[in-house]
Amino acid sequence: MKRTALIVLSLISSAQIALASDISSVRKSELLNLLKHDCGSCHGLSLKGGLGPALTPDVLRQKPIEYITATILYGRSGTPMPPWRPFMSEGEANWLAQRIKEGVQ
Ligand code: HEC
Repeated sequence: MKRTALIVLSLISSAQIALASDISSVRKSELLNLLKHDCGSCHGLSLKGGLGPALTPDVLRQKPIEYITATILYGRSGTPMPPWRPFMSEGEANWLAQRIKEGVQ
């Protein structure tokens, strides 16, 4: 794993991750809407893949939640995957990562 990725991972795991219960239900539906429309524009409307890889539970099973959260927050430089840090908190990215890992309908 690249050194920068390791640094990002340790930053996130040491950062305060908000509990899912701290996120309002209005905000949760905004995040799910963003997932469907914005993330879906690259990962496919049902997240089965497009320009970006599939984000389905079977694909993500082996990948740690911190890794998915870091990818969402910081993007992947040198690829079309953009950073979403300007649009959501770490706790929100962590919540979204869990939803993706579980499988969102
Ligand atoms: C402009 C296109 C684009 C958008 C919009 C986008 N992604 Fe991505 N995403 C990508 C690409 C391309 C990759 C693969 C990067 C690579 O090659 O490592 C990726 C990778 C990922 C990965 C890593 C998958 C893995 O198996 O390692 C996750 C998780 C992810 N994106 C989540 C999201 C989420 C959540 C959103 C919305 C908040 C989002 N992406 C929006 C293009 C996009």
